[in-house]
Amino acid sequence: MCGIIGAITSKSVQADLLQGLKNMEYRGYDSAGICTIDGMQLAVSKAAGKLVNLAGDLEKKEHTGVIGIGHTRWATHGEPTVENAHPHCSGNIAVVHNGIIENHIGLRRKLETHGMRFVSDTDTEVIPALLSKLLKQEPDMEHVMPVLLSQLEGAYALGILNVETSDVLWFARKGSPLLLARGSRGYYIASDGLAVAGVATEMLYLNEGEWGCISQHGVRVFNQEGCEMSDHTWQRMPQLSASTDKCGYEHFMLKEIHEQPSIMTDIMTTYASKRGVQFPNVAWLNDAVLPERIVMVACGTSYHAALTARYWLERYLQVPVEVDVASEYRYRNPIIGSNTWLITLSQSGETADTLEALRLFKRRTPDNRTLAICNVASSSLVRESDGFIALKAGVEIGVASTKAYTAQLAVLALLAMKLAVRSGSMSEQVWQEHYQSMCHLEVDMNETLKCVPDIQSLTPLFANIHGVLFLGRGPSFPLALEGALKLKEISYLHAEGYAAGEMKHGPIALIDAQLPVVIIAPKQYHLDKVISSLHEVKARGAKVILLTDVSMDDYSDEVEKIIPLPTGDYFTAPLLASIPLQLLAYEVAKFKGTDIDQPRNLAKSVTVE
Ligand code: G6P
Repeated sequence: MCGIIGAITSKSVQADLLQGLKNMEYRGYDSAGICTIDGMQLAVSKAAGKLVNLAGDLEKKEHTGVIGIGHTRWATHGEPTVENAHPHCSGNIAVVHNGIIENHIGLRRKLETHGMRFVSDTDTEVIPALLSKLLKQEPDMEHVMPVLLSQLEGAYALGILNVETSDVLWFARKGSPLLLARGSRGYYIASDGLAVAGVATEMLYLNEGEWGCISQHGVRVFNQEGCEMSDHTWQRMPQLSASTDKCGYEHFMLKEIHEQPSIMTDIMTTYASKRGVQFPNVAWLNDAVLPERIVMVACGTSYHAALTARYWLERYLQVPVEVDVASEYRYRNPIIGSNTWLITLSQSGETADTLEALRLFKRRTPDNRTLAICNVASSSLVRESDGFIALKAGVEIGVASTKAYTAQLAVLALLAMKLAVRSGSMSEQVWQEHYQSMCHLEVDMNETLKCVPDIQSLTPLFANIHGVLFLGRGPSFPLALEGALKLKEISYLHAEGYAAGEMKHGPIALIDAQLPVVIIAPKQYHLDKVISSLHEVKARGAKVILLTDVSMDDYSDEVEKIIPLPTGDYFTAPLLASIPLQLLAYEVAKFKGTDIDQPRNLAKSVTVE
């Protein structure tokens, strides 16, 4: 959700800024801009639309400065226009911002009474305006920065240039992620390590409330109280750059769908063996008193993974499991008892609502344990939790999550199995059966990927329709929600996921020949009852696509297509059915000609509320 980068190096920073923005385009892609200090003046270039537009402008007008900031935007306040694109300037100050300044209207009114004029509709523009005003009374940036930050309410990661201090780049972080990095050419700030992959060798994560500056010679970091920190823990940059290649696939999403089988094997070899499951970063899972209750909190696709895991945990661990979307959980006065574990799920580990839900849980019950299941080891969510299970999915670039989702399901299945064995509710024999079935996931998922031609043949069915309904029961119900979400996200068709048993209570009214119905019917989850739903929608003229792992040839005349699935067990069935659902969304989006990897209005990492 907006990506910021800043650099101060021994040569022109334009190329580093542009590459950094390219690597972070997944965070927002409706406009972009950079600002450098060229010959003691701010030089600004901005363009609406994808980054390629800015890159085109920069070919004609090159920036020469060795210090600069850049931004790729996901609009919150104001349309994606050039005026609203960052950096925003006032006098000698230029600012890039990720986050939301909640008191911007009050600040703007106050500044307007002092004669300041605004050209954009953004919340961000108050920051350079306020800073310019403060600097008129006190020109020392080091003194003014805490005063500026004390007046900003909301969330921010900031990169700031001041022509008067042209040898340093200022930064601040509260509520939005920001890191410092260094390499042979100089120092950087960035929302994400990916932005500086290739130019930096080490990075340093900033904590909440920290601010400071970078120069060509080093970094200065101050805490919220204004004390300068003397010790900095620099970490080696992880290898991030290689995965940003499509490897011959037409889209990142398609590449990531095809990566899923081998990710399953990576997960299994990392965490499981015939002897059981071990999560190396969470030793307490081996001996902590088992919880009396589990709370799972997440957003979007990660929330759907949690919903499926609830069925597994309740069935095998036999404790109550509460699942909520983070944006609801954090505001609903949740009642948290003792011996309750919180499991947060997140691809990015930077989703603002999930982070706040974790912080609320920790504030209310500091003695309870918190576990993050996350794809980004260095994320805020991981750093603030008591334990962490890595998803091993590799960098996910496509905005619509695929491989991180199935990695979450696989890790959650192993977690449920581990806890069930510990509690004595899963026998050795049952564990071995499920372990074998999980080990077979790579082969089975590769088999599932063979459904591409079948799925492609279905795409014309999605022209001139008024919606799509996905139905499932048990752990397939959240899968129906996820199938609908995937289709919505990238094809812009209205789609709903429903518990098949609930279909009669409303959605059945929508059914006609222009509402394709996708039915997920593995034999594990109440097959007969799901098939009753098939008859009911069929009787009302719906065109049905049936995903199943049992032989249903008798139904071939009744449905548009049967997508055969390899036989799954209680844990693996949803993992296997995920792939055709992802491919369906992908192929329909391709048929409709939408922007699959960067669908309109979405961002991969939602770091604002
Ligand atoms: C955004 C993304 C989704 C993702 C959700 C939660 O909406 O577009 O793909 O599922 O955020 O993100 P997280 O990183 O917390 O899993």
